[in-house]
Amino acid sequence: MSTQAYDAIKPFLWQDDCLQLLDQRLLPDEFTYIRLNDVQAIAQAITDMVVRGAPAIGITAAYGIVVAARQRFNDDPINWKENIEADLQILAQSRPTAVNLFWAIDLLREVIKSIDVADPIATLLSLAKKIHQDDIDANVKMGELGASLIEEPCAVLTHCNAGALATGGYGTALGVIRSAFKHKKISHVYADETRPWLQGARLSAWEMVHDDIPVSVLVEGAAAHLIKTSQLKQDKAEQDKTEQAIRWIIVGSDRIAANGDVANKIGTYALAILARYHGIKFMVVAPTTTIDMNITCGDEIPIEERSTEEVLTCSGKTVAARGAQARNPAFDVTPAELVDAIVTEKGVVLKPNLDKMQRLMTNA
Ligand code: MRU
Repeated sequence: MSTQAYDAIKPFLWQDDCLQLLDQRLLPDEFTYIRLNDVQAIAQAITDMVVRGAPAIGITAAYGIVVAARQRFNDDPINWKENIEADLQILAQSRPTAVNLFWAIDLLREVIKSIDVADPIATLLSLAKKIHQDDIDANVKMGELGASLIEEPCAVLTHCNAGALATGGYGTALGVIRSAFKHKKISHVYADETRPWLQGARLSAWEMVHDDIPVSVLVEGAAAHLIKTSQLKQDKAEQDKTEQAIRWIIVGSDRIAANGDVANKIGTYALAILARYHGIKFMVVAPTTTIDMNITCGDEIPIEERSTEEVLTCSGKTVAARGAQARNPAFDVTPAELVDAIVTEKGVVLKPNLDKMQRLMTNA
């Protein structure tokens, strides 16, 4: 595959035997990589949102385990396999909702148990690199599958950042948007700003601008109005090419339950209700590493509740009335019945339910 604009957007680098994370908290103003040499610091970087997005968190954990294994092996080549369990626990506590984190930890734990080679660290590093590359390949595949669902040129709305920054590269929801734009099926992208971390305004908009895809940032509250008025204009045939109706909402996911319920960034559930009310389609794009068949329905998905400071402040400045309390659930769950399509690298599940998800995962 030839080099594309998104190839320049890399949330992590493995360079000089060291993990480097692009500090996403500073984007789009500053493009700074942080070198991390111990697992505690890597786990803290996940908690603190240096790196975020479900697949990116899983890949970071895989590289983090390589860093931990190297340390443990050097310290005690006989007992390193038992000793590394403490590091896996530290990583597992970094964030609760994205299942890709636990998928990566479980996979590497099993490999560590059975590994029996002279240089186990090289083997683990190859596996981390493979997890990374497999994620990019899955995203490119999902991009084409998702784009094929969009029948006519239209505008789309996305929420949070499910782009190259949130994954190994290319993106899930933004991967579909990239592919569909290339096929001239998308004329414009509306990116919800996504308070409190502004992943839409800072990260998705930055990725789209980077790729020359027309993008408008919205405050979340504007979505309903814009969906309705873009349709009214379409009905009155008042539209020109630059203002096509919003026909799809396209998002990523942090964890999908066995029945097709979808956890994603807080605000996604409201968008799904909005889509159904206005007769537009709702697409979830996620690799099978985001599907958790051990969770029967969305109510069982652990929802991260982050610090209230994130809501009460903006760019470090208090914006809410002093003395006010806040709530800061970072994710919500969209019931499967509101989802038109789940796009994975193994195929598309239309109108998901338990039976269809089981068939997908059995073939996976
Ligand atoms: O809190 P974040 O920024 O980690 O939340 C990220 C999201 O909710 C993304 O939409 C999701 O992880 C999918 S990323 C491909």
